[in-house]
Formats: sequence, C-alpha cells, structure tokens
Amino acid sequence: MPDNPNSISQRKIEHLELCLTNDVAFKQKTTGFENYEFMHCAITEVEISKIDFRTNFFGKEISYPFLISCMTGGAKETESINSQLSLAANELNIAMGVGSQRQALENKKFNESYKIIRKNAPKIPVLGNIGASQISKLKNYDGIKYITELIEADGLFIHANPVQELLQKRGEPDFKGLLKSIEKLVKFLEVPVIVKEVGAGISKDAAEKLLEAGVKGIDVAGAGGTSWAGVEILRNNIIQNYEFWDWGLPTSFCIQSVSDLKTKFDFMLIGSGGINNGIDVAKALAMGADITATARIILHELNKAGSEGVQKLIKDWFEIVRKIMFLTGSSSINELKNNKLIRKEKLY
Ligand SMILES: Cc1cc2nc3c(=O)[nH]c(=O)nc-3n(C[C@H](O)[C@H](O)[C@H](O)COP(=O)(O)O)c2cc1C
Repeated sequence: MPDNPNSISQRKIEHLELCLTNDVAFKQKTTGFENYEFMHCAITEVEISKIDFRTNFFGKEISYPFLISCMTGGAKETESINSQLSLAANELNIAMGVGSQRQALENKKFNESYKIIRKNAPKIPVLGNIGASQISKLKNYDGIKYITELIEADGLFIHANPVQELLQKRGEPDFKGLLKSIEKLVKFLEVPVIVKEVGAGISKDAAEKLLEAGVKGIDVAGAGGTSWAGVEILRNNIIQNYEFWDWGLPTSFCIQSVSDLKTKFDFMLIGSGGINNGIDVAKALAMGADITATARIILHELNKAGSEGVQKLIKDWFEIVRKIMFLTGSSSINELKNNKLIRKEKLY
C-alpha cells in the first residue's frame, strides 16, 4: 500500500476494492436496453460462420468491436491487473484503455504499471487516459504528450467525470476552460483524442460541442452500469449525496442520440456503461455504436478466472452477438444497425 492515504495511488486502490463488489451498481436506473427487443427474421439467410467482426479502430484492425475500458495503473498493485488484461486484449486482438495516467505526471515511480500494457500487447490499439479537470487549465501539453508516448498510445481518452469530481473528497469539480483546452490539445497531439464519461453519459449536445472542438471519438459511458457517484459515496461515507447515486443519462439513450451526429461528423462512437453481457453488446451495436466497451464486469471476471477467463467471457459474448445476427438476418454489423430493434411496448 502507498503510505500517503490521500495519494492518487491510494485512491486507485480504493476504487479497485469497491469496484470488486456489486454495491457500486446503479440502484434504480438502468441502461434502458431492456426496453428493446430484436426484430426476429423468420427468413434469415445469414451464414453464421461467415459473420466477420473485424473492425477498424483508429487505423488498426481489431478482431471484435470491443475495448477493455480504462481502469487502472499508477500503483504497484495495478501492474498485475494491467498485465493480465493486456494479455487478454492481445490474445483477442481487441483495444484497451489504461486507467488515468495522472500519477505518471507526478513521478516515474509506477511507470511500469502503464508500460506493461504495451509490452504485453505490442500491436493492439492502446489508449491513454487523463481527466478533464487535469487538462482544462493546462497551458502546455508536453506532459500529456509524455503520457501518450509512455504507452505508445494510439489515442488519448479524456475522462469528463463531473459527478465523480463533485462527490469525491478533495475532488476537483472545476472544468472551466475545458472545451478551449481540448481544441488546443487536439491540434497539439499526434494521436486522436476521444472524450469519455465514467457512467453518467454524454448527451448529443455535449458530443456535438466536443466534435466541433476536434475530438475523434465519443465514449458515452452512460448510466446503468457502474455508478461513480456510488463509488465516491461509499468511499467517503457522505450520506447527503445519496440523491446523486443514480445521476446520469442511460447508455441506450446516449448511444441513440449521439449516433444522430454521424450524418454531420466522422467519429468513432463507443457504446459503454453497463455493457454486461452479449445481448447488451448486440443492442449497443444495433443502436449505432461502432464498438462497445466494458469495465467493472471485466474486472470481476479477471478476479474470478484470470486473463483466460476474460478472454472466454468476451468470446462468449460475441458468440451471442453472432446468434443474434443470424436471427435478425444481419450478415454484418452495419446490417445489424438497420432497424433491427423494436421498443417493447410496440409488441403488445
Ligand atoms: C476499477 C475501475 C477504475 C476505473 N478507473 C477509470 C479511470 O482511471 N479513468 C477512466 O476514464 N475511467 C475509469 N473507470 C470508468 C470506466 O472506464 C467506465 O467508463 C465506467 O466504469 C462505466 O463502465 P462499466 O459500467 O462497464 O463499469 C474505471 C472503472 C473501474 C471499474
């Protein structure tokens, strides 16, 4: 354990410990996926064995439209987690995000916890990660360039997490200057910038402003999966914040509304936030996501069954997607996006 109880490393460990329980899920609010059914196609002619999941992700081909969401790094204990996750990502040839690299901006003490990812997975897309509150006031982006180079990143995630910052003890809920700073950063960095939430969702309006500022990807990280308000409420035991436990826009709503912007902007839409099984993956793709991503459930699987367990879980999820594609007459992910969902109330 790091000695300073307030250090960034210590915080990362506490987040991991809380996220290994189920107590941090949303309470009443859901992703909204359960409100939809797939349109069954009785005359499907799809050849299951020919379904091809290969997807281009920021210039690299991945074998499944899937990303292991940004989770950790920056503490000794996180090196083995990143090592096992990156071995799984490498084996499956999928993308992976690192957890916040804020710690690496302070010193080099835990650099290995980030670098191990690239060591284990030389060819997959690996994405760096930094918080919106860290970049909103920056005048100079050399530190950001440094953290992307540390992992030979193919892109950088900026996590916009206002609810978490607001409820976190010693949080930094001050994002003044964020859009301007993103605009400058996008021009400065050689790799694409993607903005993500952490479980409260990104609205169409916010996504449009970000895309106008030059970001190349939006990861909606909507409500219905892990509640980061919940994590901070439990960490700090501040009961008066319970009202905010379920704050946020459901993942299904975010994916559908942000995907409307595809007619105006060329960007990668990542569907995440409570993607907890193969049906969720298929629904997120059908709603317009280019790729899907999961954090906490992957961490649970890693804890239970190791790197091989994670590989099996993701493969199993895509076997379900494959069957759904057969049953909906979708020979490609693009076809799956074409009116293959129906709202449940229309069925009765
Ligand atoms: C243990 C853990 C640590 C996380 N740390 C980060 C982080 O450092 N940076 C970040 O952008 N998101 C972080 N997240 C948020 C996830 O990337 C994701 O957006 C969020 O948990 C919602 O997805 P889920 O419902 O699949 O968990 C973390 C999630 C977990 C479970």
